Amino acid sequence: MRQPLVAGNWKMNGSLASVRELLAGLKAGIAEVKVAEVAVCPPAVFIPEVQGQLSGTPISWGGQDLSVHESGAYTGEIAGSMLTDFGCKYVIIGHSERRTYHGETDQLVAEKFTAARKAGLVPLFCIGETQEEREGGITEEVVARQIDAVIEHCGVDMLGEGVIAYEPVWAIGTGLTASPEQAQDIHAFIRGRVAQNSAAVAEGLRILYGGSMKPDNAAELLAKADIDGGLIGGASLKAEDFLGICTAANE
Ligand code: PGA
Repeated sequence: MRQPLVAGNWKMNGSLASVRELLAGLKAGIAEVKVAEVAVCPPAVFIPEVQGQLSGTPISWGGQDLSVHESGAYTGEIAGSMLTDFGCKYVIIGHSERRTYHGETDQLVAEKFTAARKAGLVPLFCIGETQEEREGGITEEVVARQIDAVIEHCGVDMLGEGVIAYEPVWAIGTGLTASPEQAQDIHAFIRGRVAQNSAAVAEGLRILYGGSMKPDNAAELLAKADIDGGLIGGASLKAEDFLGICTAANE
């Protein structure tokens, strides 16, 4: 059985004060979460605060990106070892905002996957098609290409040490959610694609859904056979909403 994972992607939001308030809310409500594993990915500067507050709780934390390099003259970058130094378990890689605004290619994302594993981090590897690609009927082609890039670079066994987050770009932050059936179809396709390389890895791999997931649509999405949790943006910034999604996995 795959344990569901609900991870919050705070993106570039918050202040020290709002982060403290959010963490207090999460700690107060986490006992209601019976089934899902819970994680948060704050902006890097807040990670020490998150570590201080969440150590000893069931909630884990992670980064939103990492460098492919281990150290050196790379101004502005953060190495995987720096994230593990501050207790991070996870790191998001290949988020569509990084692919779109920072030109991250499939190849670079695959290199980041390796860098994350080298540092002992679990990659939350994001894939998904744009609106245009969906309308063009090439959703499967796009996600297959994104997955294959990691399999070719890292091998299927290393892919299996991470988590995939399927996030249709047209559903991110738009209030549009893939229907549970639409999402399930692609999740099954993704698992099938991995199974072509290793049935065992495919069976154990957690595939999260992301894109306008909220407390009121989480239960239906999480009930689908191949949806093993969620990567939550907007709704992860409010403790009540985020915990509402986490508890939706209780059923
Ligand atoms: P959203 O973002 O929940 O605000 O749509 C999801 C994500 O980008 O990870």
